This record gives sequence, structure tokens and C-alpha cells, in this order.
Amino acid sequence: MTRAVTRLAPAKINLALAVAGKRDDGYHELRSVFATIDLSDRVRVASAPRLEVRIAPDVGAARGDDLASRAVRALAGATGHEPAAFVHIRKRIPVAAGLGGGSSDAAAVLRALATIWQREDVDLVALGATIGSDVPFFVTGARAAFVAGRGERIDPLPEPPDLHLVIVRSPWRLATEDVFGALNDDDRGAAGAVDALRDAFVRRGVTPQLLRDLAQNDLRGPAERLCPAIADARVRAAERGIALSLTGSGPTLFAVADDHRDALRLVRILRRIGLSAHAHTTAG
Ligand code: C5P
Repeated sequence: MTRAVTRLAPAKINLALAVAGKRDDGYHELRSVFATIDLSDRVRVASAPRLEVRIAPDVGAARGDDLASRAVRALAGATGHEPAAFVHIRKRIPVAAGLGGGSSDAAAVLRALATIWQREDVDLVALGATIGSDVPFFVTGARAAFVAGRGERIDPLPEPPDLHLVIVRSPWRLATEDVFGALNDDDRGAAGAVDALRDAFVRRGVTPQLLRDLAQNDLRGPAERLCPAIADARVRAAERGIALSLTGSGPTLFAVADDHRDALRLVRILRRIGLSAHAHTTAG
């Protein structure tokens, strides 16, 4: 019997994101193209007599209310197990950044614990949706997907080529709920870009230029109103010829590079204007 499982939990980028109307349940209807990137937390789950979650470095989540603890309780509730497990998370993905780190950790816990408890028959995508809107995407293990609904409708897309991205981290944190709350009707307009990008993935026609053209996000307006430093960084990068786009509800920004050399060039320019830029690829 398996007693411990270690999994990498990758971060995601929303290459394009459109928000449609507000639903009766208070959530918003989304359309987005998600891709994992080569920045991961490491999640180890082991059998234990009680629930214990250790996150290093500490991310300041209320004890027992982090998404990993919720994942253990959700799978226990669905299977009749005691909600008992030892979870250790080594964090590398910045928190509350729009990179899906906490959701990816929760998905890794669900998959690891389903293996340990030998309950791989459980619908982990549906269970993931009860924990958070980004969890179902990570549960599928897809490297890229068209995601719709609240986040629970996942159509995996053909493997993208390794796309070179520059991620611009931010010292600020934005709560997803606040960003959705600040959304106006005028902010909407990315739906066409999302659908065009999904179609490009399907016909395997994704290029860096196409990504730059279609990297639109309806949450950019509200995120920038709540955190003007995002707009400031974007304007300063644009003055140097670099288009920065928002991932998720922010505040992390990203640029699409032509190749690895180009990514390093963009990193140098962005660091010179005081931004925390790092080269990554979409290989999750
Ligand atoms: O599902 P999750 O807990 O990640 O969502 C955090 C918050 O973001 C929700 O409370 C809601 O305010 C907002 N949200 C939304 N529509 C979505 C996803 C999230 O309004 N599709």
C-alpha cells in the first residue's frame, strides 16, 4: 500500500481571460486559456493519524483554512475516510499573485490522497470545484486547457510548444474576490481573443506574436484600479517596447518572448526599470 506521494504542483498563466455575466451563485462566468509553467511547489502527502499541513515558507493562511487542508477534508467527506493526513508544501509560487499556487497545491493533495486511499474512482474535477474555481484545471493535469463556467468546465488543448514567457512578480497581493468585485461592464471585451487563442491551439498554430496579440484579460481594469502600481509597471515596460499582460486576477504580469535569448533580453530590460522579472517556459 502507498503511504506517501510527492507531486510537483505547477503554477498557471491565463494566456487570455474573458469574464461574461455574473451568475445566480455570485460567481462569474469565465472563458480562459490556461497553461502551466515551469514554476512549481512541491507537495508531499503521507498517511497520518490526524490532519497536519505544513507550508514552508509560511504563507500566513489561517490554520486549517488553507486550500490543502480543505482538499483533505473534501476527499474525506466524499469517501467516508477520517480527514487525516500529513501534508508538507515547499512553496516557490508567489501567493495571491494570479498564478494559482494554492489551487495547484490543493489539486496535488487531492490526487496524492486519492492514490494513498486507493480512491481514484472519485470525480476529482467535480470535487476540486468545491474547493476553488482554479482547482479543476490543475486536477486534470493538462498543460493547457480552455476553461469555462466558473472554472469547472475543462477542455484540454493540444500540448503547446514550449513558449518562452517572462514573469513579472509583484510585492503586492490582490484578493481574487476584490478584483471580481471591482469589475465594470466596460471592462469586458476579451471574449473574441480567448476564442481565437483556443482555436489557434486546436489547429496547432500558436506563435509568440499571436500570443502577444491575444493576451487580453478582462480583469486587468479592476486589478489596475485596485493596484495602480500594475498600470505603472505596464506603462513603463511599454515605453521600452515590451507588452505586459495580466494573469488571472493579478498582480503578476507576463510578457511573451520569441525564444530563450529573447526572454533573457526582456528580463534585462525589465530589471533595469526596477521590475522583478524572471524567464520561464510553459513546460509545467
Ligand atoms: O473559487 P475561488 O474561491 O477561487 O474564488 C474566489 C473569489 O473570486 C470568489 O469568492 C468570487 O468572488 C470570485 N470569482 C468569481 N467568479 C469566478 C471565480 C472566482 O466571481 N468564476
